[in-house]
Amino acid sequence: MLKRAVLVILAAALLLAVVETLTAQPPGRGAGGRRGRGFSSFQQQEPLAANEQEKKILSVLEDMDRNQRRGMMNVPQEDGRVLRMLAEAVGAKHVVEIGTSNGYSGIWFCLALRTTGGKLTTHDIDEGRASLARKNFKRAGVDNMVTLVMGDAHETITRIKEPIDVVFIDADKEGYPDYLKKLLPLIRPGGLILSHNIDMVGQDYIDAITKNPALETMQVQGVTVTLKKRQGK
Ligand SMILES: C[S@@+](CC[C@H](N)C(=O)[O-])C[C@H]1O[C@@H](n2cnc3c(N)ncnc32)[C@H](O)[C@@H]1O
Repeated sequence: MLKRAVLVILAAALLLAVVETLTAQPPGRGAGGRRGRGFSSFQQQEPLAANEQEKKILSVLEDMDRNQRRGMMNVPQEDGRVLRMLAEAVGAKHVVEIGTSNGYSGIWFCLALRTTGGKLTTHDIDEGRASLARKNFKRAGVDNMVTLVMGDAHETITRIKEPIDVVFIDADKEGYPDYLKKLLPLIRPGGLILSHNIDMVGQDYIDAITKNPALETMQVQGVTVTLKKRQGK
């Protein structure tokens, strides 16, 4: 009798597990794969333009997203949104980007810089991608905020003399420690070092941003966010 009861309980538990597996949905999606109302579903909502200038810039970004991604190694849209959000939140006046490509991430920064009155200095070594970037900056109407510096950034960044609010490192992965070493002294206290795809960089860089008590590092989407701490008492 007892044996039979145990068997019935086991069968019921198995049936429940099967039903649960069959009815499980990916996070943020409702029945039939439609966008649900869960916590993460808002992340799939397209960015909303607050005015005509934002609308124009977002439409260029959308076009680049659809038609220019191939070979450009651009950040995904959600990381672009993170870059804009952080630059706007710290009121960035000077953003330095290493790795312009066709200007996709740079244009996300410009969405912030048009409100903070700031500027972007962006560095690349590849003339083909850079010439596309110039065209994209122009059609987004942000070319007046951008200086594109051509050449090996390990050398070109040594010419920067002004303070920096935000650095975005998104170029040769083995070069990240050198970029950090050269730019950290120029970053103002309370400024940010943002770096992309650090799962592809070496341990030296990870140690440099996580083992220095003057820095605080966390991951937001694909963007590694490092704060240069202000000196407290
Ligand atoms: C991942 S892509 C940048 C993507 C861009 N941030 C975006 O999201 O639109 C990397 C870029 O870094 C550039 N790059 C690689 N090594 C470089 C170096 N030593 N100096 C300057 N640019 C470099 C490449 O030419 C390439 O365009």
